[in-house]
Amino acid sequence: MVERKMLTGHTPEILRRKLEDFIARLAKKFGDMKGKIDVSIRPEVSFADIGDLARAKQEIAGLVFALKSPDLHKKWGAQPPNGVLLYGPPGTGKTLLAMALAREAEAVFFHVRVTNVVTKWYADSFDVLQEVFTQVKECGRCILFLDEIDDFIFDRAAPEEMRHASRRLVNSVAEQLDDIGRSGDILAVASTNRPDAVDSTLIRPGRLDQLIEVPLPETDGKREIIQIHMAKAEAMAGRKLFNQLDLDPILARTVKMNSADLAEIVQKSLEEKVRQEGSGAQPGLVTTDDMQRAIEDYRKTKEIIEKIRYGQYL
Ligand SMILES: Nc1ncnc2c1ncn2[C@@H]1O[C@H](COP(=O)(O)OP(=O)(O)O)[C@@H](O)[C@H]1O
Ligand SMILES: [Mg+2]
Repeated sequence: MVERKMLTGHTPEILRRKLEDFIARLAKKFGDMKGKIDVSIRPEVSFADIGDLARAKQEIAGLVFALKSPDLHKKWGAQPPNGVLLYGPPGTGKTLLAMALAREAEAVFFHVRVTNVVTKWYADSFDVLQEVFTQVKECGRCILFLDEIDDFIFDRAAPEEMRHASRRLVNSVAEQLDDIGRSGDILAVASTNRPDAVDSTLIRPGRLDQLIEVPLPETDGKREIIQIHMAKAEAMAGRKLFNQLDLDPILARTVKMNSADLAEIVQKSLEEKVRQEGSGAQPGLVTTDDMQRAIEDYRKTKEIIEKIRYGQYL
């Protein structure tokens, strides 16, 4: 924290107030910022909360190092990283990685949910982003996380006027990324699950030029992720919640599931216990069978969600 004070000239308390004021100011001008822009001085997610993804975590660790020890790059005449694009299927941990990066690097975390910023009030999105960029430059070490960056661009089917506006938006973001790339203490990180839909302007050298893949977990990765979520629930409850589980038959039923699905299944198995106890029973610890049932229930719900999403109920 001493370091932070040196970087920004602010104590953590003053920084916190400054950031709260910033969000309040945005809300006053553009409406509620919930689900659109969040700022946090110390995100809750750390590397220990993220399972699998050894390679991605290794690259993120390198970024932590670069942010915390900028002098080392200088000493070796090496370019510090400019910007990063995390790409991979939904629910694989891209947002978690960005948060953990901020936490480990002791950097302020600006979370911009591009989807919500751009669609809700398109007319204002340009101005909102300008304000965010200005603020980012006043906060010392920070991560600017542009979550789901493919949503900056409207597809060819969109009306001309909208496409024009989105072009203008992307160009201004690109300019800002150039600026940020040159600064040593701000790192822009973006995420996408549709790398094919990201505007190529944004990934030019000096912008989001380091690409990190965040793939779906395989069996061993899934095992680790389930265990992380079980341990998290037990830590929260302050007691043992799961029997000795046989994870192999459980994992066999998680084909095509992503990490977010696995977290959800652990939750579902616990919600069932809550329901049982709520209706007067005295349920025991979660067993392998309980977990299997949670998976089947979850699979059914997911199928319905997908049918609704893809319009098969129309
Ligand atoms: N690698 C992972 N390890 C542990 N939990 C994960 C992992 N990836 C995703 N999750 C779970 O899924 C949720 C959504 O993950 P998120 O990082 O938002 O996915 P993405 O941004 O890739 O769509 C997380 O809050 C967490 O519960
Ligand atoms: Mg995400």
